[in-house]
Amino acid sequence: MANQLFFNSNSKSERYIALRQQLEALVGKEKDEVANMGNICAALKEAFDWFWIGFYIVRETQLVLGPFQGPIACTRIGFGKGVCGTAWAQAKTQIVPDVSAFEGHIACSMFSKSEIVVPIIKNNKVWGVLDIDSSELNSFDQLDQLELENMMLWFAGLL
Ligand code: SME
Repeated sequence: MANQLFFNSNSKSERYIALRQQLEALVGKEKDEVANMGNICAALKEAFDWFWIGFYIVRETQLVLGPFQGPIACTRIGFGKGVCGTAWAQAKTQIVPDVSAFEGHIACSMFSKSEIVVPIIKNNKVWGVLDIDSSELNSFDQLDQLELENMMLWFAGLL
């Protein structure tokens, strides 16, 4: 198993391609979902250095914090609450260019300025979400959505 990731381009799309290839080698043969979520967070952090990257997993009526990279975060989020709970309720990716303009946003950190939350679907149900926060406004676009949705489709296939 490789113990180091390599990114030799500053282009976002090329970094996603390099990330995908290396993640497939790193994660693809491992069946343990906690180990895989941990390495996905660490690899995304290394590739893009976003402020906070983590998983929330559906546990009955709440999302519960899973593996993450970044400062400590809220442990539990209700169905339909905040950006994560909305992504769960709608089973749809949420891109929030300015978190202060999102009604009901749950602020785990005052440094978080924009956010993307991608649902992870298993057996037609939301299994959890990938949540990424940036310390800058407007950090996420359609390319991030496409790449992260593809990544979560692939991850869901390993579950
Ligand atoms: N901002 C999220 C809460 C989780 S933290 O950002 C890590 C939300 O509104 O659901």
